[in-house]
Amino acid sequence: MPIETTASVIAEVPGDAELLAVPYASDLAPAVELHLPVPDLLAHYEAKGEAGEIVEVPVARAGGVGRVLLYGVGDGSPRALRRAAAALTRKVKGRDTLTVVAPEGDVAAFAEAALLAAYSFKIGAAGRKPVRALVFAGADEAPVRRAAEVAGAVALARDLANTPSSVKDPSWLAERAAETGVPVEVWDEERLRADGFGGILAVGKGSARPPRLIKLSYTPAEPAERHVVLVGKGITFDSGGLSLKPNENMKTQKTDMAGGAVVIAVLGALAALKAPVRVTGLVAAAENMPSGTAQRPSDVITPYGGRTVEVLNTDAEGRLVLADALAYADAVLDPDAVVDVATLTGAITVALGRHVGAVYSPDDVLAKELVEAGQAADDRLWRMPLIEDYAPALESSIADLANVESGSRFGAGSITAALFLREFAGRRPWAHLDIAGVGRSTVDEGTLSKGATGFGVRVLLEWLTRR
Ligand code: BES
Ligand code: MN
Ligand code: ZN
Repeated sequence: MPIETTASVIAEVPGDAELLAVPYASDLAPAVELHLPVPDLLAHYEAKGEAGEIVEVPVARAGGVGRVLLYGVGDGSPRALRRAAAALTRKVKGRDTLTVVAPEGDVAAFAEAALLAAYSFKIGAAGRKPVRALVFAGADEAPVRRAAEVAGAVALARDLANTPSSVKDPSWLAERAAETGVPVEVWDEERLRADGFGGILAVGKGSARPPRLIKLSYTPAEPAERHVVLVGKGITFDSGGLSLKPNENMKTQKTDMAGGAVVIAVLGALAALKAPVRVTGLVAAAENMPSGTAQRPSDVITPYGGRTVEVLNTDAEGRLVLADALAYADAVLDPDAVVDVATLTGAITVALGRHVGAVYSPDDVLAKELVEAGQAADDRLWRMPLIEDYAPALESSIADLANVESGSRFGAGSITAALFLREFAGRRPWAHLDIAGVGRSTVDEGTLSKGATGFGVRVLLEWLTRR
């Protein structure tokens, strides 16, 4: 379900709006003539001006009673404005139109957060509908339009990841990729075999629904200097395979293609945002299931490029499908930079929790760019280390590499996973985003909705449209 709430801009604040939101700050007079004793009202309600705080005042309107929502903006930073905007949208759930006098500062961040807070994913008719329309009075049009594009892309990524795996399989994902409007090329099983994609095939072979590699291509209108490849983990359901997960851990794994969803949504939004770089998206899609045809712990497989991998745990499947896509990007696509996005390890949730994603990169410049873009876009990233001492964890006695450490000498599950990927990324600038912690939310709060978050869309769109 795309965000159904519309966003538009009007020049003048209508005096008769039935539902009108107006910012206040302790030392600032409200921006419009309200015919209300605003300072007295704020004092009466002991309003502090914090972001997220809303003082609701009934006012006389032609048709009856309207409401003015006085809202706090905190320190006016983009972060505070996002919180304020999300609180407003949540407050007016079920209503028709909210007219908002935009605050001073980053209107794009404000409008984006207002729209994201309107997102919900429901199968059936449960719950109240989000506000139908947000009208930003006195705001610039361009940032509101950009915000709507970005929020729409986040919503698409959330929708894809929230879709149950009974509906969503690798070929379904390929169909959704084709709907973005950019040229799409799909490898079916036969072609995957012919071209040597041994990782995707091995992970997919336990499922009745065959794997796919999905390639999406964006070419900017003006000739581009740089070519970026985005790689997404597209496990449409991760049961663990024969290394089966317990139900408690398995029931969240329909979102194990969240990285792939991010890649599809980003590619679909680049044209509208006029990104000046050429971008190729690769989604390595497979369903990880146990069956008589599934790969076994101890099997040796050959990902793209010919190196061999001993699969000691079939639940470490993300790195196997990513190995194929990363090696293919390096060998064939000649990119200037490669960024992969993956719900790769439960261990990263232990390290960074649910609010901050991990970025790994041997390249200081790329890591810094992504951290900065994440800060600006509100998809916060923390740079994690590729600790060389832990590389022996992935030694195998019979193959070139093992997919997991066989004992527990080194630990550091998210780091060793990143070290595994590094083996396939080649020598080009490469970064890996582990979004297992931030890919899902357990709460409906602020700009987050319970379930898939779309984390990664905003940081990548920010990064790709900056240069
Ligand atoms: N898809 C999971 C990681 C995950 C866990 C994502 C929780 C979101 C929430 C991944 O494929 C996985 O199973 N990783 C294993 C790796 C282990 C077998 C080395 C893990 O984290 O336990
Ligand atoms: Mn797994
Ligand atoms: Zn997985």
